[in-house]
Amino acid sequence: MIDRTHGFGFPEGYRIEVAEDPAFENATTVVDVAGGTRNNPIADPIDHDADVSGRFVRVTFTDLYTFDPTSPPVSPVSYRKPDLVREEMSTWQMAALAALAVRDETGVDLARGRPVTASSSIETATWGRELLVDGAYRSTTAPGSPLLRTSVELSKPVETARIHVATLGYGELYVNGVRMGEAVLDPAWTQYDERVLYNTYDVSEALKAGENAIGLWLGRGRFSRGNRDWSGFGSPRAICQLNITYEDGTVRRVSTDLSWRSTESPIVENDIYDGERYDARKERSGWSVPGYDADDWDFASEMPAPGGDLVPQRTDPISVVNRLEPVSIRSQDNGYLVDFGQNITGWLDLRIDNPTAGEEIVLRHAEALDEEGALSTTDLRSADATDTYVPRGDDRERYHPRFTYHGFRYAHVEGFPGTLTEDDVQACVVSTSMPERGTFDCSDENVTQIQRNAKWGLRGNAHGIPEDCPQRDERFGWTGDGQITAQAFLYNFDAVRFHRKWMDDHDDTQSEHGYVADTVPAGFGTTPADPTWSVTRVVIPWYLYQHTGDPAHLERHYEGMRRYVDYWFDQCEDGILPEKYANYGDWLAFENTDGRRGKPFDLFTTAFHYQTTRLVGRAAEVLGYDIDAERYSDRAAAIEDAFTAAFFDSDAATYGPGTQSALAIPLFLGLVPDEHVDGVVKTLATKVREDDGKLRSGFLGTRPLIHVLANHGYEDLAYEVVTQPEQPGWMYMVHQGATTMWERWDSDEQVGSGMNSLNHSPFTFVSEWFYRTLAGIDFGDGSVLDRIEVAPTVVEDLEWVEGTLETPLGDLASRWERTDNSLAVTVQIPWNAKACVRIPFEHDGMSVCEGETVLWEDGSRVALPTGVTHVDREDDTLVVNVESGTYRFDILPGRTS
Ligand code: BGC
Repeated sequence: MIDRTHGFGFPEGYRIEVAEDPAFENATTVVDVAGGTRNNPIADPIDHDADVSGRFVRVTFTDLYTFDPTSPPVSPVSYRKPDLVREEMSTWQMAALAALAVRDETGVDLARGRPVTASSSIETATWGRELLVDGAYRSTTAPGSPLLRTSVELSKPVETARIHVATLGYGELYVNGVRMGEAVLDPAWTQYDERVLYNTYDVSEALKAGENAIGLWLGRGRFSRGNRDWSGFGSPRAICQLNITYEDGTVRRVSTDLSWRSTESPIVENDIYDGERYDARKERSGWSVPGYDADDWDFASEMPAPGGDLVPQRTDPISVVNRLEPVSIRSQDNGYLVDFGQNITGWLDLRIDNPTAGEEIVLRHAEALDEEGALSTTDLRSADATDTYVPRGDDRERYHPRFTYHGFRYAHVEGFPGTLTEDDVQACVVSTSMPERGTFDCSDENVTQIQRNAKWGLRGNAHGIPEDCPQRDERFGWTGDGQITAQAFLYNFDAVRFHRKWMDDHDDTQSEHGYVADTVPAGFGTTPADPTWSVTRVVIPWYLYQHTGDPAHLERHYEGMRRYVDYWFDQCEDGILPEKYANYGDWLAFENTDGRRGKPFDLFTTAFHYQTTRLVGRAAEVLGYDIDAERYSDRAAAIEDAFTAAFFDSDAATYGPGTQSALAIPLFLGLVPDEHVDGVVKTLATKVREDDGKLRSGFLGTRPLIHVLANHGYEDLAYEVVTQPEQPGWMYMVHQGATTMWERWDSDEQVGSGMNSLNHSPFTFVSEWFYRTLAGIDFGDGSVLDRIEVAPTVVEDLEWVEGTLETPLGDLASRWERTDNSLAVTVQIPWNAKACVRIPFEHDGMSVCEGETVLWEDGSRVALPTGVTHVDREDDTLVVNVESGTYRFDILPGRTS
């Protein structure tokens, strides 16, 4: 039987050139095959003879393979519903090349094993050659929020209609007066000169016979907003394309062009940091409804595109995910102070009865109050965080901002007509709308509060990218913060799409040399990034693989990961990554510091370089890239040797200066030689005890510290650190009334210091520890598809702990609880999964039952209940391998004879 996919995608026209330089300035054309020839080679290679020399070969597809997706040979497509296919019929083009061989006169393939790069403008090219338009009268700096509209006359019945729209920075789409979708602050921020996200709306039902109106309302977002380290791209603009298929099968395309009309909207100022000013007297009632007279509007002008490819937004949009009522409202300074009882990110939604036209209402936001009980805004730095509403004077009006967001718990409302009550104001929580996928709970309400704070902190710092903080003039994709919190995100939320998008942003900002910037998209900080910060480039694809089992996450980013690690490898001197590359050290640590930076820098840079090198090796192994797997694992071993030689004192079982972080990081990253692990953990535990069970570590060292103590027999000490009631620590924050995570361990003493966020993402990572350590849900060194690890950590101060996680295979759950005379561990393992359950097992006399079946007694296995495939004892754990199902293990003190 003939495989009909052979030759599928082979270009109809192509050109092959050879050159000495990668820019192909003096290229020799070897062959230029004209398009439209259906030059399908099926399974045979096509040879072109040439007498030419050069180092680089370029193949340009000048005419793509086009096909009708409703017909064979690609069978899965024909199962698609015809109405889903129509739109793509005219645009399905593709390119595929199985291999390119470059043979010398003896027939040796010179191209074999050589690097290949590919570029494509396919997504952009599927759009019509229509124009980006703006409403800013050709100004590139206008602070505006233009409205844009057009009319579309439909004379025939519509079968399907879709609108693709990209709005820069933010935008809302209206069809016949109805807002499409519920996303806000859309689309997500990207490196606009590399990639611009668009969204698609099915408007088949929204259109009607006769006149239809399409409207766009734009905001500046990140696109127009410059900042200290980067300049904006100019005025807001949009590109939009409506694709209609009529019932008679004919198609029509309507795009943004110079016939669109544009004018100013009631949003007279908008800025993500400063807030917006909305003048309701300038509203244009019915502006997106058919029949609206826009004759006095200007014509839209054509604007340059920022340069990035148009790519569909495949991450969850930002939306209003929750609404909070005030917990208190009191009069203050010509207005009202509203407390929502929770630090959030978003905006106010205000209902205003009988306002006087033109009398402004001013909404200010802050996370904290000063000593007088007024908003404390110093730590917002240059962010004004103020929204102003100017009423039009109706009986009832309603206002919430559109193109800004604030981090706040308190708001001050000035100029509100009448008495402000809880019926008049709500807080909207605005965040990337990732569904929740994990839960953690335990017997100590304060620990559960820490978990709640972490979840709020994660939510509040997710706006298209994981950001550092949501309130001051930053809100950047700081890589350091992102590498620390990624696992907490993945345990609590379905954050796979969110992080996959951020990895695409990493692709966009990665230098051709391999490094990435401190913040992604690039906007702040240093380039190259601190190598301990930007490990995101490597660790996040790995985490995505662990949580999904899908190697595509590794495949998609493998080249970026590899180039990143290679860059830092090239900067190493004798296996050590010199300290000059470090920007932040163990940021905000309390010991061995240089200002805010915890030392020693080269210990940290080299340790994290080891981590990324090892993970690239692991990724290569998963992907079956055997040569790379060996290369990077050998390289990691060499870094380990250099690290040990430079920093390890085997007699004292310590590293570098012996700080908490200097000990915890090598342990966590697997840099400590096996035979010394116990000794180094003991040194760390002794150090922590000498420090009164208090943290001295910062951003880099704390996550390792709590994990390694718990994983190496010091679980109660780890728990003591995590629940330390005195500063520094999470419980201390809870006792101080925190509802999110602080930026600094001593944020309570740093109010007004200018760098003091009360909703900072990094320390939310403690939630990862709750899932992975206390509940014990982990994926070891593999993925969810390999073997799930359930290794609960039982600590003295808790009666029970429960963690659940939705995995791609189904629900996973782990619970342990103390019963009268025993400990019960209950696990739920999803379908098609295998798990290794590690049951804490303290003394020889203990016995373990699963349900009615005695599993282990008198030091040996008794029976294997259904679903249990293996039982054995390893030191102080009983290792039980199970298949999918729910199991309850009762660990009994044992029958003493
Ligand atoms: C950010 C951090 C970030 C840091 C770099 C700060 O201003 O808010 O969280 O990682 O700069 O040290």
